[in-house]
Amino acid sequence: MYRTNTCGELRLSNAGQQVTLAGWVQRSRKFGGMTFIDLRDRYGITQLVFNEERDAALCERANRLGREYVIQATGLVSERENKNPNLPTGEVEIIVETFAVLNESKLPPFTIEEETDGGDDLRMKYRYLDLRRPNVRRNLELRHRMTMEVRRYLDSKGFLEIETPMLIGSTPEGARDFVVPSRMNPGQFYALPQSPQTLKQLLMVAGMDRYFQIVKCFRDEDLRADRQPEFTQIDCEMSFVQQEDILQLFEGMAKHLFRELRGVELTEPFPRMTWDDAMRLYGSDKPDTRFGMQFVELMDVLKGTGEFGVFNDAAYIGGICAEGQAVYTRKQLDQLTDFVRRPQIGAKGLVYARVQDDGTVKSSVDKFYAPEVLEQLGKKMQAKPGDLILILSGDDAMKVRKQLCELRLEMGARMGLRDKNKFSLLWVVDFPMFEWSEEEGRLMAMHHPFTHPKTEDIPLLDTDPAAVRADAYDMVCNGVEVGGGSIRIHDQELQAKMFEILGFTPEKAQQQFGFLMNAFKYGAPPHGGLAYGLDRWVSLFAGLDSIRDCIAFPKNNSGRDVMLDAPSALDQSQLDELCLALNLPKNEE
Ligand code: AMO
Repeated sequence: MYRTNTCGELRLSNAGQQVTLAGWVQRSRKFGGMTFIDLRDRYGITQLVFNEERDAALCERANRLGREYVIQATGLVSERENKNPNLPTGEVEIIVETFAVLNESKLPPFTIEEETDGGDDLRMKYRYLDLRRPNVRRNLELRHRMTMEVRRYLDSKGFLEIETPMLIGSTPEGARDFVVPSRMNPGQFYALPQSPQTLKQLLMVAGMDRYFQIVKCFRDEDLRADRQPEFTQIDCEMSFVQQEDILQLFEGMAKHLFRELRGVELTEPFPRMTWDDAMRLYGSDKPDTRFGMQFVELMDVLKGTGEFGVFNDAAYIGGICAEGQAVYTRKQLDQLTDFVRRPQIGAKGLVYARVQDDGTVKSSVDKFYAPEVLEQLGKKMQAKPGDLILILSGDDAMKVRKQLCELRLEMGARMGLRDKNKFSLLWVVDFPMFEWSEEEGRLMAMHHPFTHPKTEDIPLLDTDPAAVRADAYDMVCNGVEVGGGSIRIHDQELQAKMFEILGFTPEKAQQQFGFLMNAFKYGAPPHGGLAYGLDRWVSLFAGLDSIRDCIAFPKNNSGRDVMLDAPSALDQSQLDELCLALNLPKNEE
């Protein structure tokens, strides 16, 4: 037997017991004739003590133990003289009688403690060492508990966990596919699923009624803090349901997770906001509603009411009111102006107005407006003395709203309003069915092509498709899209029409989605579903800035696994076997 107990287990009540522990040497300290070693395993840290007076040879061997050596130690649990209230095992120590080195370790490239000296790349290269750190390990423990609770909840609601294949054909979710060449079918490729969307719909046609899967999805898209090229969905689909049934069931799941994993009781129904309102008030389909600072449209107050050409030419003028921030200095306002002018945001400039103690409004465009107009501005913004009004404008309303959204989030962060321990959930509903793609020069499905249009909007498909709304919904928490789904089309004629609007010829639709439209001919039930992003949920609960920190072996921002050094080149023999020839751009050869 390697051990009688773990390193996180022993308490004062165990004093006097003979125990054997096994683990890693976190650190070692010599103090007078004593040597103290912190022994670590997944469960915690226990102090080992070696006493030179009692056994000089044993103590001398202990002094030679290096960091991260794996040892097994046997001894007596005793009450500690200097107790450590920060450790659950801090009241006891083990007076070691014998120990064995189970394995030596090279000196690790960074310290394996809560706060490490290892930079990002180094930690990723030695991820197996990084994962020994308690904070990273805790994220994986939380992830495990979350998947257990998800299974418990969905099982209690009659869902079946069913696996779908990883080697499939293309699934159009808007990103690029990762593809896998087939040796047995030279020149042909599988695609890794961007999600099991069509397969879960086929499971509904098959009568499975309620399906779920905790499933890896693959998308070759630009990476961000909340995006990885492979990530995990809690993917669900249900038959004989309407949007309301789905929202209620998955709101129930969110509440279950908050209760079991965060001890937070969310009793109220989650607010619902239409996509139109989300864009109008927050400039985003995933508004961070932990704080207000909603947009106020200012066209009627500032356009054509003064000599300021920028506003007079604008298609949209909008402002936010930052409470109590009139104290912002000129320098801070210049910084904010630089912030909105950054190429990623792209605003041309920032207009500001301070509400003074006497209630008058003093702005950066005072010379263009009569005092009454500025007074009107203060009123429209519902600004109080001490508030700061920030205004953006431009000739494309959607673009300005997105810029104002960034400014609002920045101000929220600066004002400490984006508290990681506060959770604000909502459903965003009634998404547009289509969005115009400049790149492709055609309408694209905003969610995916299988989404059902709102029944009352179906007639618009022929006359004004851009105005059609969908039975699609996202769950948003603290400005993060944690899940999304829709009611699906189950009628093959409507599905064919949708492909037509999306620019597919009947032949191409048949070639890519024939299997689905064919299945719809055999009694497809009405159905719909949703997928939660598991990584995003875990990150939210753990208060992480990036989903990478809750993934055991994540990719870096260039999509590389620096530990495995993947992706990497193939041997010529492998390429030959797959009948592949490379055609690299000159500088990458
Ligand atoms: P969607 O594309 O909205 O819907 O994805 C569902 C949820 O998955 C998470 N997510 C991601 N997480 C990490 N990295 C990524 N690259 C990434 N992309 C998406 C988000 C998102 O809300 N088949 C549909 C679902 C359905 O209609 O049932 C789908 O995949 O949290």
